[in-house]
Amino acid sequence: MKKEMILTGIKPTGDPHIGNYLGAIKPAIEFTNNNDKYECFYFMADYHALTTVKTGEELKRYTLEIASSWLACGLDPEKVVFYKQSDIPEIFELYTILTNVTPKGLMNRAHAYKAVVDENTKNNEEADFNVNMGLYNYPILMAADILMFNTNKVPVGMDQKQHIEIARDIATYFNNRYGNVLQIPEPFIKEEVAIILGLDGRKMSKSYGNTIELFLPEEKLQKVINKIVTDSSAPDEPKGTDNTIFELYKLFATEKELKEFETKLANGISWGEAKKELFVKMNEILKPMRDKYEYYMNNSEVVDKILAEGAKKARKIAENQLKIVRKIIGV
Ligand code: ADP
Ligand code: TRP
Repeated sequence: MKKEMILTGIKPTGDPHIGNYLGAIKPAIEFTNNNDKYECFYFMADYHALTTVKTGEELKRYTLEIASSWLACGLDPEKVVFYKQSDIPEIFELYTILTNVTPKGLMNRAHAYKAVVDENTKNNEEADFNVNMGLYNYPILMAADILMFNTNKVPVGMDQKQHIEIARDIATYFNNRYGNVLQIPEPFIKEEVAIILGLDGRKMSKSYGNTIELFLPEEKLQKVINKIVTDSSAPDEPKGTDNTIFELYKLFATEKELKEFETKLANGISWGEAKKELFVKMNEILKPMRDKYEYYMNNSEVVDKILAEGAKKARKIAENQLKIVRKIIGV
């Protein structure tokens, strides 16, 4: 049986956080344990990061951070083709080709672009103030990432769903013009981790500044957890499960531990105590990963070597796919 192609990327625009780990990295790594069914391609979307990261130094550091994070979270480079987007020039050629089957209106409707336009309108600025073409065309580059490798499933958090839908649309436009060449991808979104909440109870995101970074040192992790916004119930008042502390605890605990925690809340432990318990639970899971992360961050040559090998494998497939596409479009 032909293996299913699983592909995902993370753009290196800042320090990886719990939302990235639980929403994208962990579900993606779960696929890699089923090697006879799935072929896994995971990458750093460094050209996507250019929309926001403004210096080469920063981009280099963030890219190493994201790569080290994947490895620290358990990615086995023997089982996964692990690479940097920028190492696969074929993607950018496919991107240029795809711009020609993509209606401009489709880009006007993309959430990330629309959010900037809405913000500008609210502030009485011109609609496209501060919008560069990288941001506007972001979904086309993402479609190229996906369609380059005939991807079946793309594990992501809920916020990326529209991007996958756009990739499907672009593939369909291409196929309508040239025949059934490109595989139509599907998003893979795990319901329990589709939207991880941040410190303020909104979706955890670098753009909201409400993240819990994945590899904070212990003392800092405790401090950040203490910042989680809670309601004003008194220390000994009974507390329910509809709060960020419980939601986060749930993601790290076993069912038995979760039941115990729920009982403690119902019996009225203070938010301070609850936060301490959350810290202990999270730290238990994150500590071994943190140690590995430090190793890769301090041995970047190990990471570089893994990525170079991944790029070699990915390019072979990309070259082949591009050959097919070039032939069919007549160049
Ligand atoms: P951010 O919103 O912090 O900029 P990214 O856009 O870089 O995060 O997301 C990288 C990956 O992590 C994507 O697959 C995204 O869906 C996932 N992700 C990010 N934040 C969350 C979250 N709060 N809950 C679930 N998944 C998330
Ligand atoms: N847009 C994704 C993010 O913000 C990153 C990304 C780029 C991606 N190309 C991709 C994700 C292809 C999945 C598949 O995190």
